[in-house]
Formats: sequence, C-alpha cells, structure tokens
Amino acid sequence: MFITFEGIDGSGKSTQIILLRQKLLQEGHAVTVFREPGGTQVSERIRSLLLNPDFDINPVAELLLFSAARAQLIAEKVRPLLEKGEMVILDRFYDSTTAYQGYGRSSLPLPDIQRLNKIASHDIAPDLTFYLQISLEEAQKRTASNEKDRMERAGQPFYDKVVNGFEKLAAKEKRFKTINAEQPSELIHGLIWEKVQQRLRA
Ligand code: TYD
Repeated sequence: MFITFEGIDGSGKSTQIILLRQKLLQEGHAVTVFREPGGTQVSERIRSLLLNPDFDINPVAELLLFSAARAQLIAEKVRPLLEKGEMVILDRFYDSTTAYQGYGRSSLPLPDIQRLNKIASHDIAPDLTFYLQISLEEAQKRTASNEKDRMERAGQPFYDKVVNGFEKLAAKEKRFKTINAEQPSELIHGLIWEKVQQRLRA
C-alpha cells in the first residue's frame, strides 16, 4: 500500500507520519518512510539545490528538478518496495508539485504538470493521500521561529494559491482524505488510522 501526506509547511505532516509508522510497525507491517524531495543520494542532492536560498531558480527548472528527484526516488526505492508487497509512506508527492509549481508558481499549464507528474512517478499512484488542512495563519504561527528555506521565502499570495491548489485536488481526487490539522495530534492520528485500517481490510 502506498500512502502520501500533503499540506502546507506547518500542517504537522511529520508528526503524523511518525505516529502512523509506529502504529503500522506495531501491527506487524513492513513500512518505509521517505520525504520528497529526497530519499536517495541523487534526490537529496537535488533537494539541497531546491531549498538553498542562495539560488534563483527559474519556475520551469524548479518544476523539472522536483520531478527529477521524484523519478529517481520512485525507481530506486518506492517501486521495488511496493513490488515486494511492503508499505510505503511519502512525506509529499506529486500533489505538492500540482499545488506549489502548478497553482502557486503557474510554471506550466495544469495539464502539462499532470502529464509530467505521471512521467516522474513512473505512473505509480497513491492508494491514500492524507491532506492535513490548516489555515495559513495557524501554519505561520507554528513555523514562525524556523529558518526559512528557498521555498518558504515566497510570500503570502503564493501560499494562498498553494492552499487553493490543495483544496481543488482534495475536492476532485477520491484518494484524498482531508483531515482538520488544527485538532490535537492524537485525535488526528486516530482519524488517519481508521482510514488506513478501512483500506487494509478492503
Ligand atoms: P520540506 O522541508 O520537506 O517542507 P515540509 O517540512 O513543509 O514538508 O521542504 C519541501 C519544500 O518543497 C516545501 O516547501 C514544499 C516544496 N515542494 C514543492 O514545491 N514541490 C514539490 O513537488 C515538493 C515535493 C515539495
């Protein structure tokens, strides 16, 4: 089973991924977690390029770099694990590209982004996508003390568009499960676990 987590910075994805991973391991499942961009030597190198505030990266180049990091991660790590019947959790996947590079940056028309997402993922789609929904205001409060990477230096209008992108995806894609991320984390974990169990039984 292939599970992805999406949401803006500060939505609490990392905490929920840790909790879900622990639960799955306790229940006897083989599960591996990766973050995007990253998860392989090549993809981590691409990540440091993408997040380095010293670089001014053209929007199309940015789109292609996120896609390149993904193509490597899926081919090298994710696909072999899924083929063995193991579980994989990704902290972000191509829905982030649609939201950030598609809606946020308008780097290319959405149908082109979708085509590229299909190519970069080697046509592997998640079974479940948890969208941790949070207001920009609350997310900004939570991340206020962090040092900002290159992506996080984009201003409020960019983030408004990114949130709108996630909302559009959540309304359209059946695999999306929207979770109110402003609730206590144990409660959020319970909701996520319920959905995963339903899917495991299906
Ligand atoms: P990261 O530190 O992993 O952010 P977070 O902890 O919020 O997940 O950095 C990843 C950044 O890259 C984040 O700002 C979102 C952005 N991103 C894209 O713009 N497009 C993408 O396709 C992906 C995977 C991430």
